[in-house]
This record gives sequence, structure tokens and C-alpha cells, in this order.
Amino acid sequence: MLQHAVRAVKTVALLLLFCSASAMALPNTPQQNYLLKCSGCHDIDGSGTVAGGIPPLPGYIGSFLDDPQGRVYVLHVPGVISAGLDDTELADLLNYVNHKWGDVKARPFTAAEVKMNREHSVADVVKLRREIVSRFVRDGVKAGTYPWP
Ligand code: HEC
Repeated sequence: MLQHAVRAVKTVALLLLFCSASAMALPNTPQQNYLLKCSGCHDIDGSGTVAGGIPPLPGYIGSFLDDPQGRVYVLHVPGVISAGLDDTELADLLNYVNHKWGDVKARPFTAAEVKMNREHSVADVVKLRREIVSRFVRDGVKAGTYPWP
């Protein structure tokens, strides 16, 4: 009987330890942040949906990261700006996404660049994308199917 009680107490103690360890939560990995903050719209494989108005990332994200204005743009798309991630988490997340689906040779984001670019306000991201992509078309750079006018 006593043994059972001791075992039960030990189990509860272990559970508490486990719960408090996970509550102290290590920061999310970029992959976890992608799943939590981006995949709901862009899908796990980054494909998005044309019908839903979500552009695909694989094969195209690198074009934006290779372009100075494109780097400002990706930091101002609504899903990124409202992700609730700090500068370091966003830099790591965008580098992860780029590494997975973009141009591994693109210069990685640093927290300092994210901070600096976020301080610039972009009045109209759709217009900014249009400007960037018209240059891409001229220069033969790839951009994904974009559902917005
Ligand atoms: C609520 C849905 C939603 C979420 C969540 C979301 N996005 Fe998006 N994303 C969009 C839409 C819609 C666009 C295109 C609209 C625009 O450019 O303003 C877009 C555009 C983009 C683009 C530019 C692609 C292009 O071809 O123009 C990138 C890069 C991007 N998102 C990355 C992310 C990342 C990284 C996350 C997670 C932090 C994220 N998005 C979360 C809906 C979402």
C-alpha cells in the first residue's frame, strides 16, 4: 500500500518536473516556427494555393533574397510582419525557409538587418512586389505565380 503511494508520488513529481521543463520552453526552432506561423497558409511543403491567394515559396523565395528590394519586401508581407517573432527568430526562420526552398548562396539575414528593414515602413506591399517582379521579368529572374493584381 505504502509502496503504491510512494510510487504515485514519484510519478506525480516526475510529471511536474517534465511539465515545468516544457513550460520553461526552449525557444522554437525555425522549423517549428514555420509550422506554427507559416504553414497554415503556405502549407507544409511551401506550395501555398493560387485559389487561396497564397504564392508558392519553393524555387522562388531565393529570387527575393538575392535582391535588395526583395529582402525588404519579404520582411513586410503580412504573414511575416504579424508573426509575433523577434528579429533573431525571423532571421533564423527566413534563412531556414530560404535554405529549404530558395538559393542557399543568398546572403543570410541577420537580426540587425531584420531590425533595420522592419523599421522602414512599406505602404503597399503588393505595389512593391509588382515593381520588383517587373525588374525580375526584365532580367529573367523567376517569381512564383502571384494571385494579386
Ligand atoms: C494568413 C496567411 C499567411 C500566413 C500565416 C503567412 N503568409 Fe506569407 N503570404 C501570404 C499571402 C496572402 C501572401 C501574398 C500577399 C502579399 O504579397 O501581400 C504571402 C506572401 C509571402 C511571401 C512572398 C512571396 C511572393 O512570391 O511574393 C513570403 C516570402 C512569405 N509570404 C513568407 C511567409 C512566412 C515566412 C510566414 C510565416 C512567418 C508567412 N508567410 C505566413 C499569406 C500568409
